[in-house]
Amino acid sequence: MVTVIRSVIRGVGACLPKRVMTNEDISKIVDTTDEWIVERTGIQSRHIAAEGELTSDLGIVACRQALVRAGVDPLDVDLVICATATPDRTFPATAVRIQAGLGITRGAAFDVQAVCSGFVYALTVADGLLRTGQFRRALVVGAETFSRILDWTDRGTCVLFGDGAGAVLLEAQPTHGAREDRGILFTRIRSDGRFEDLLYVDGGPGSTKTTGVLRMNGREVFRHAVQKISGVIEETLVATGYAADEIDLFVPHQANQRILDGIAKKLNVSPGKIVMTLNKHGNTSAASIPLALNQAFEEHRIHEGSLVLMEAMGGGFTWGAVLARW
Ligand code: ACO
Repeated sequence: MVTVIRSVIRGVGACLPKRVMTNEDISKIVDTTDEWIVERTGIQSRHIAAEGELTSDLGIVACRQALVRAGVDPLDVDLVICATATPDRTFPATAVRIQAGLGITRGAAFDVQAVCSGFVYALTVADGLLRTGQFRRALVVGAETFSRILDWTDRGTCVLFGDGAGAVLLEAQPTHGAREDRGILFTRIRSDGRFEDLLYVDGGPGSTKTTGVLRMNGREVFRHAVQKISGVIEETLVATGYAADEIDLFVPHQANQRILDGIAKKLNVSPGKIVMTLNKHGNTSAASIPLALNQAFEEHRIHEGSLVLMEAMGGGFTWGAVLARW
């Protein structure tokens, strides 16, 4: 019998800062209305990190919850990968700070930078490393404090984003490689740097020596998002031989309700199968997929054996998809 190593998701956790900022609150800072934001994006409120509350702080809490739910001791983890575009410091990696915060002293920890696609990229990297046999258990965390890189005078961008973190605990397990066996079944990551100027941060240690703030051409990002995300989902389905209606749960990156509606329509996915957190979280970049996984878990919408499709697109552009049997 052939043995195939698969990366099985054993636990999920999340952390949202306490402070909630509603659209009404934002309308006191920039010229906007709750009606405009809800109609154009679907966002009603978002969480904002407190002063001194760092990306790693959120990540550590999310990881702890994932570990508890998996019944795994932190000392049995040998890989920590953090997807973030808002690291605590330029270096070291936020993952190293999360590793230390959890008391893990072995294995390796590093960050992955693919902005909103970061969690899909990090899962892909973790899955590859676990399947080599070099590591046994990985914490994959998406953690962001985007509120710190927003231009709070730009109503076109500051209304869209929020802070938070989510994490999963992956474990390398021997399987028969069958369709019904658990684990990550397929990953696909893509990027195209020609589109850098449509969504970027206008600073950096190597250019301006400042952090910079987010800049975006929303209309162009929107146009590319529907097309690129639908494309990578179709590739995933073709490569794995699954039909769209066999997917139990779609867990998309949460950028804009209208982007998700467009994708659902294009791929003929029933809205009841899509996990939505956008209304309460806004766009939390790399944290949005694990936060949505966590919500689906807590609402008992995700069970052992569920076929889960995750997808994302972000600055770069970067985009990708992961298909997993929970
Ligand atoms: N409140 C009120 N009016 C606003 C606001 C606001 N918050 N923001 C922009 N407007 C105004 C503009 O000034 C403009 O006014 P004008 O016509 O007088 O010039 C008008 O609304 C239309 O502006 P557009 O930018 O064309 O509005 P659009 O319908 O494209 O919606 C939005 C903007 C919501 C940003 C949309 O383009 C979008 O969602 N794009 C996708 C971007 C995204 O999701 N990025 C996240 C990162 S990438 C990712 O995660 C996939």
